[in-house]
Amino acid sequence: MSFDRELLSSVLPAYDIGDELGAGGWGVVVAGQHRQLDRRVAIKQLPSELSADPAVRRRFTAEARVLASLDHPHVVPVYDFVERDGVCLLVMELLPGGTLRSLAAGGAGLTDRKAVALSLACASGLSAAHRRGILHRDVKPENMLFAASGVLKVTDFGIAKVIGGADTVMTRIGDVLGTPAYIAPEQVLGGELSAATDVYGLATMLYELLAGVFPFSHDGPAVALLFKHAHEAPKPLRDVVPHVPDEVAEVVMRGLATDPAQRFQTAESFGAALAQAGTEAWHPGWLWAEKVPILDAESIVNAAGYSAAPRRSVAPPTILPGAMTRGAIPESPPPATVSSETDEPADSTQTLLSVPKARVSIPPQAQVSIPPQVRDPAAGRRRIVVAAVVVAVIVIAIIAILVLPGLFKVYHS
Ligand SMILES: Nc1ncnc2c1ncn2[C@@H]1O[C@H](COP(=O)(O)OP(=O)(O)OP(=O)(O)O)[C@@H](O)[C@H]1O
Ligand SMILES: [Mg+2]
Repeated sequence: MSFDRELLSSVLPAYDIGDELGAGGWGVVVAGQHRQLDRRVAIKQLPSELSADPAVRRRFTAEARVLASLDHPHVVPVYDFVERDGVCLLVMELLPGGTLRSLAAGGAGLTDRKAVALSLACASGLSAAHRRGILHRDVKPENMLFAASGVLKVTDFGIAKVIGGADTVMTRIGDVLGTPAYIAPEQVLGGELSAATDVYGLATMLYELLAGVFPFSHDGPAVALLFKHAHEAPKPLRDVVPHVPDEVAEVVMRGLATDPAQRFQTAESFGAALAQAGTEAWHPGWLWAEKVPILDAESIVNAAGYSAAPRRSVAPPTILPGAMTRGAIPESPPPATVSSETDEPADSTQTLLSVPKARVSIPPQAQVSIPPQVRDPAAGRRRIVVAAVVVAVIVIAIIAILVLPGLFKVYHS
């Protein structure tokens, strides 16, 4: 699909329109630059056949408002959206580091630990959306992109809903909505979708990253694959790649349960279980050694077992996808969870701590233990008063025991 530069310039007069970044099934993505803010952006335009449909435009407006309110370091920020003259545009942060798909397809491939660590970053972004009641519906490596800083961000939230409405995987023109390889059984069957639907997509993605193949074989038309997702059990991960640790494989397979009730119910619980499985299979603090930034995801980071690592409160160094390597585990301090409030893509030479307005929170295990009286001085005073009252009661009781018999004698006489 090509794009109309003049049309884009007229609809977005504040932007210089650059080159096409790529095109997917549901639109074209073009680079741009906000002239006054000097901000590089990616502009996603829905195909005109879709944006001609008033129902699609209505959903686009409704979803864009929700997406623009999502503020999380692992979710691509949406800066602007336009629905005008039959054109639907989404303006978002430009993520120049490539997709998780391109990283996995690169020569070096991914180690098991790196694949799990990157999935945790995705889980963090998805869980922020789940907390707000937003589903992604099209989780796949193509929708996970790296910022210049090396931080992995989830893109295309809710686009599947905009295009297909609430509960179908088939569009009016008969195309499969979303990507058949990652579609959850309840999406195929028109059932109720929930955060567990995104967990299925995330588990499929991790399965593929670990095994190099999908949980269901692709040897027929898309409809046959959808049928398998809905009615068959996925091939056990360990049957395909025996080197993947049992603990990790177990979490992935539970994420792929056909019945959504049998899966992890949120991306956060899936992420925490996965991080914990990594700790059991490899070693506490394994995630730190991977140098994959996992931001604003305390429960996931804690489950990676940082308590056994040396206690220093610094952020993990930023990595660029191209710089990811297999190899030895360096001796490293535990990571702090860092959340960046900036919308600007970070300079690739910056560490996360140098990103403007970064908030740093130290994992609980890395915090110094504080004596109770220092934490709450009033509690110390309360204890002294209670002790004084107890002593006074005891003294009064002793006096009463000694004096009362004498008083009784006086009374009787
Ligand atoms: N924010 C972004 N910054 C930089 N490149 C992007 C951004 N968003 C998307 N792209 C690139 O644009 C191309 C098209 O993305 P698009 O989302 O349209 O397709 P897709 O994800 O590959 O497939 P689908 O249409 O099924 O979602 C991809 O190569 C993607 O990497
Ligand atoms: Mg996409």
